[in-house]
Amino acid sequence: MKKLNLVLTTLALTFSAGTAFAASACDPGERVVKFSHVTGGTTHPKVVAANNFADRINKEMNGKLCVVVYPNSTLFGDSKELEALLLGDVQLLAPSLAKFGSYTPKYGVFDLPFIFKDMDQAIRFTKTPEGKDLLMAMKDNAGFVGLGYWMSGMKYFSANKKLILPSDAEGLKFRVQTSDVAKAMIKAMGASPQAMAFSEVYGALQTGVVDGQENTWSNIYTKKFYEVQDSITETNHQLLAYLFMTSQDFLDSLSPADRAQFLAIADEVTQEANESVKAKEAANRANILKAGGKINTLTPEQRQIWVDTMKPVWKKFQGDIGENIINAAAGA
Ligand code: SIN
Repeated sequence: MKKLNLVLTTLALTFSAGTAFAASACDPGERVVKFSHVTGGTTHPKVVAANNFADRINKEMNGKLCVVVYPNSTLFGDSKELEALLLGDVQLLAPSLAKFGSYTPKYGVFDLPFIFKDMDQAIRFTKTPEGKDLLMAMKDNAGFVGLGYWMSGMKYFSANKKLILPSDAEGLKFRVQTSDVAKAMIKAMGASPQAMAFSEVYGALQTGVVDGQENTWSNIYTKKFYEVQDSITETNHQLLAYLFMTSQDFLDSLSPADRAQFLAIADEVTQEANESVKAKEAANRANILKAGGKINTLTPEQRQIWVDTMKPVWKKFQGDIGENIINAAAGA
């Protein structure tokens, strides 16, 4: 990789045409490793972590590997990225753990409403034997390998009307990721779930195709959802985290020494990303307010009503996820 790779990935962030420019920054003889993801902006935890990973590989494995980051669904969006990894058209992804339903039901644990009080608890779970085993949940059926869990934030509801209690959401349509748990959760509120790719959410909120959505501060800020919603309610009801992942085929294609170096860098970047994610979320919450977005806070009593409404959803998924996994997450 020629110098200035960070600048180049930043250019790729801004212009879709920049992706070709970024790839051309690789030196002849270097193997191009494509990293596709769907988030944007410059302050988003996934954007920062993906760029850090590219930067580290491109410096420390210079001459061998050249990671090119394609953010903002510019290479593959939600519906195509896993298929692209299966086909070897991309080598690195970091999809939300809520998007793996066609490959494994086990990641549903990360989606269970109110299972994690905060990201610290989720990080503790990922370090338990159950959490570590889940990194390889799709190795046998799809050849996918989890390199690490990247936390993104807790999730909050927004809508085109103020939501204080779940009953305020009755009859509304909410965009959800392709997660059966999320769909069941929305139905428990008396609302209708509509699964949709992340890149389509702003337009769907703007045109009224859906009334609301649920996401982290960083996604709500960088995608400007606050512009087309009445307000955001601090429900803290669910986690959003990513599986930083590759394929076994790609790992097998590296020499043992290169593979060890690649995996060590992946591990260090993961630790670093998770250490800095809370600060990024707090900064993007403040950015929303600065930009004119409205945030509703809940009293403990109001929040308890959300918990009581959604918690029954757990039972429905216990069999598919596994009781041992749910207990490890809830008790972490
Ligand atoms: C992401 O943060 O990668 C996208 C989350 C979403 O689809 O809501």
